[in-house]
Amino acid sequence: MRILSGIQPSGTPHIGNYFAMMRPMVESQARGEVFTFIADYHALTTVDDPAALRSNVLGVALDYLACGLDPKRAVFFRQSDVPQVTELTWILSTVTPLSLLEKCHSYKDKVAKGISPNHGLFAYPVLMAADILLYQSDRVPVGQDQKQHLEVTRDIAVKFNLQFGGGRAILKLPEAEIRDEVAVIPGADGQKMSKSYGNTIEIFANEKATRKTIMGIVTDSTPVESPKDPDTSHLYALYKLFATADEATAMAGRFRAGGLGYGEVKKALFEKLWAYFEPLRKRRAELEKNMDHVRDVLRQGAERARVEADKTLAAAREAVGLR
Ligand code: ADP
Ligand code: TRP
Repeated sequence: MRILSGIQPSGTPHIGNYFAMMRPMVESQARGEVFTFIADYHALTTVDDPAALRSNVLGVALDYLACGLDPKRAVFFRQSDVPQVTELTWILSTVTPLSLLEKCHSYKDKVAKGISPNHGLFAYPVLMAADILLYQSDRVPVGQDQKQHLEVTRDIAVKFNLQFGGGRAILKLPEAEIRDEVAVIPGADGQKMSKSYGNTIEIFANEKATRKTIMGIVTDSTPVESPKDPDTSHLYALYKLFATADEATAMAGRFRAGGLGYGEVKKALFEKLWAYFEPLRKRRAELEKNMDHVRDVLRQGAERARVEADKTLAAAREAVGLR
């Protein structure tokens, strides 16, 4: 079974990325063949600073390896090191109905947030479909925000196979894997956490910055003595990510009982988060001493990815009559 997922180098990885995608991918190394990449072509749709893009790519690579990605078991690469994906994107574009893309929430959300609606942003889901289909992926672990993009991917694959496969599945239909408990992780402002919304809790910020972010989590003005509803509290949702089941139940009870101040919950959240990532921080500090190794990992990953990419691309070219 091949399990694939990507992350954009549009900023610094955060705990939303970690729980919805990075950790599931690390765990997937035990159940199948992991392909995972840094989606730098995708990031070009929103990042217009070349130096930032370059440094984000290395930063994401370092963070991901620190989270336990093992280059011996996983194929880890930079998207643009396999430019074959752009050719498949073009081929797929020609079977993608405009109406399919016009329905995409992610595009509309980004435009609503003030990102300029360039063609790349609009065509983003076709590139993502190419990422997934190029490697004949079976499973794609993602957060809820990517669910629709997976549906688009399947629609495109069905259309392609129907039109050019003559009954053959030239492109494999992938399945999204979205874990309920971590489908949408809230940010410090209660909105979905996202690199592009400035509301992230980074995995590897230093202690002072992490404490400041957590103490700054927006809460309502319910007085300390009043009962509070854990189920509508994003602070509780964040706490729950790091707590054992018993600890989460106990905390929910204290929310409901009243007499619990949000400051106390934030302190508890900080302590848990800081302890949780401690071993990963140690690994990151080691890896950071040898960035050449990190670059080598990506280079070698790309070599392995290109072998797979060439196979699918050759089949797609043949199927449509480019060869
Ligand atoms: P971002 O939105 O922060 O730029 P990416 O677009 O690079 O993150 O997403 C990488 C992965 O992390 C995707 O699978 C995405 O669904 C997931 N993800 C991002 N933010 C969240 C979140 N707040 N909750 C759950 N999953 C998330
Ligand atoms: N679009 C994804 C995101 O913003 C990143 C991504 C690009 C991706 N290509 C992919 C995720 C292929 C899964 C599979 O989160």
